[in-house]
Amino acid sequence: MPKTIHTTEEQNRSMQRYYILQSRIYDATRWSFLFGRRQLICALPFGREAKIKVLEIGCGTGYNLRNMARCFPKATFTGLDVSEHMLKKARRNTAAFSERVELISRPYTLGETQFLGRMDAIVFSYSLSMINPQWQELLQQAQADLKPGGLIAVADFHNSRLGWFKRHMGNNYVRMDGHLLAQLRPDFIGLFDQVKPAYGGVWEYFVFVGKKAD
Ligand SMILES: C[S@@+](CC[C@H](N)C(=O)[O-])C[C@H]1O[C@@H](n2cnc3c(N)ncnc32)[C@H](O)[C@@H]1O
Repeated sequence: MPKTIHTTEEQNRSMQRYYILQSRIYDATRWSFLFGRRQLICALPFGREAKIKVLEIGCGTGYNLRNMARCFPKATFTGLDVSEHMLKKARRNTAAFSERVELISRPYTLGETQFLGRMDAIVFSYSLSMINPQWQELLQQAQADLKPGGLIAVADFHNSRLGWFKRHMGNNYVRMDGHLLAQLRPDFIGLFDQVKPAYGGVWEYFVFVGKKAD
């Protein structure tokens, strides 16, 4: 289990602290274990010319925003992140697309109204597993922020059979209990749903694209 975190404010502060240092090494290291991120973008069922609005929650250093901006040249993107240190990197990484990529420095929270019913797709890439215990509230908010028929796209850790590995990830704020797919599958109409092993089965990660009911 991840370090015990209770309130939203504590979760936000923990992330802000954690990513002061991690933001410096993030882009150089995460390619080696955050699997499925490219596949997630490929699984988005939009045409290249689609004029869609996409929101990424916990956009970090902008890896997905930059790749999505390349794939969908007429789309506009909003990236939200609670860590200003991560967003500083994201500004640099998405500079070539700054007319279409907006970055917002704040947490995503249940009850907010900024994006209500306006999004064609909402992306959570390795953020939900770190938002504990508020991840369900954030999925609820995403339902509200999607247009009818809008898509949720999630890549994240799924589970591990190794207790020591789950504890290690818990010490890095990651919960890995199969809990995310268990919630996504009944809440959205599945369009793409894949679980894959990493490093011969040390852990499993998943890629899920689902549709909000019309
Ligand atoms: C593992 S990183 C993932 C970054 C990026 N999505 C990627 O795939 O590389 C998790 C990100 O989620 C952000 N985050 C955590 N809790 C958040 C919250 N409540 N609201 C917005 N962002 C949050 C963190 O600051 C961090 O940048």
